[in-house]
Amino acid sequence: MSTSPWWKHAVIYQVYPRSFADTNGDGIGDLPGLIARLDYLKALGIDALWLSPVYRSPMVDAGYDICDYTDIDPLFGHLADLDNLISQAHNRGIKVLMDFVPNHTSDQHPWFIESRASRDSRKRDWYIWRDQPNNWRASIDGGSAWSWDEGSQQYYLHFFLPQQPDLNWHNPEVVQAMHEVLRFWLDRGVDGFRIDVVHCVGKDPTFADDPRCLAGETMVQINDQPYSHEVLRGLRRLVDGYPGDRVLIGEVNIRSTAQVAAYYGACDELHMSFNFPPLDAPWDPVVFRLCIRDVESLLGAQSAWPTWALSNHDNRRIRSRYGGSLRRARAAAVMLLTLRGTPFIFQGDELALEDTVVDAQTRVDPGGRDGSRGPIPWAADPPHGWSGSAPWLPFPPDAAELAVQVQQASAESTLTLYRQLLDCRRKSEALRLGDWQELPSHPQVLAYRRHCAGDERIVCINFDQREHSFPMSGHWRVDVASDTVAANQPFNGTLAAEQALILRPAEG
Ligand code: NOJ
Ligand code: CA
Repeated sequence: MSTSPWWKHAVIYQVYPRSFADTNGDGIGDLPGLIARLDYLKALGIDALWLSPVYRSPMVDAGYDICDYTDIDPLFGHLADLDNLISQAHNRGIKVLMDFVPNHTSDQHPWFIESRASRDSRKRDWYIWRDQPNNWRASIDGGSAWSWDEGSQQYYLHFFLPQQPDLNWHNPEVVQAMHEVLRFWLDRGVDGFRIDVVHCVGKDPTFADDPRCLAGETMVQINDQPYSHEVLRGLRRLVDGYPGDRVLIGEVNIRSTAQVAAYYGACDELHMSFNFPPLDAPWDPVVFRLCIRDVESLLGAQSAWPTWALSNHDNRRIRSRYGGSLRRARAAAVMLLTLRGTPFIFQGDELALEDTVVDAQTRVDPGGRDGSRGPIPWAADPPHGWSGSAPWLPFPPDAAELAVQVQQASAESTLTLYRQLLDCRRKSEALRLGDWQELPSHPQVLAYRRHCAGDERIVCINFDQREHSFPMSGHWRVDVASDTVAANQPFNGTLAAEQALILRPAEG
């Protein structure tokens, strides 16, 4: 039995609840819908789910604008449904991670309403008010990070939309209030948090103009202040005070693995951080090789445990980013689930869904991120397991062929491939916890060895549209193949175009 915490062994699945499963026919996924589909997740073989925000919200940014951190938005259900989700998931051995959004609230949050009421408000300093704006730029709409408040005649700061004012974490009352939020959910049994843009909570106390904003960058891409680390140490102490290896996974949206590594602290900040360069990478082994080497050298050096995510609700789906190719999406799944670290599957990638196509009428997100947020097609026939009104976004292309119901019944489907990969990982200590060593190969082939206490796997991914030889000494068998090569076949030393294989030593 290994003594590593559960999250190092885990495969984590991101649930974007409004697009997962609907039960009341309003076209928006909800908590009862997710509960009803837990057996699907169990059969897939995941260990934990991360739930994008379900808190009360005006939904200007799809729930990332929160007006009550300790209640569920009626769109998704009630607090009792969340309690039920936790217990039903735990009954199946699945952990539940909530999304914690510390950087900003909704402008409809009672704290902000009180803060903006007057310059003398008791909560004025809970947010960041200035007489003069600087040149900081906001994300989503790319405009100024400052908005003028007519009533109190000052500007307030927002790294995202004007409806998402930034909290002032330099105020100890804010720190305390947000600690109480975490305790509220930890006491209810959640197993940890994904923390939204956690690198943004500390702000430059001089409020100096940033030349990079002149060049078009937004603060979310560059904000990196020592005070954020102090905030994180406080969150870590709080979470570590609870039994059961509760986990903090930060979204550090700075596109530098070296900077990301610093947010693990000295094992006293994040347990894990997202790292975005691989998520941005095109289908190119040269780029992936550099991303992986960076992770191994920069995180490995300080025993910081890596994460791997190739898509999420803010970015294009895996298959769409790699040119719509099913072969690439399947080969990428092999890579995602065999690198050293904890992989994250974004809902629907296990079905090889492509981005939903929106037009002027169906577009919802002000940031143009609707593509990856399309509803999951459960059944082949329209409305694909969604009853009543049409879902809030159009279905992804080929919803009938890619529906869960269809893929469950097919040995060759991408869903079956994901199940095989998770199963193979569960059975191999080398894949879950072993070290990672790059192997010499053709430049278009990324190959590595995973090894741990006598258990060994070789992974080889051919990015090319032509076949390549991959000679290996000794005898190897195919454990899982991204295409239809049968498991257990002896490996013949050749990789087909855009094929990925997991190999294990042939016994005897
Ligand atoms: C990152 C989230 O993933 C994104 O969806 C959201 O718009 C911003 N943070 C603001 O909370
Ligand atoms: Ca619903």
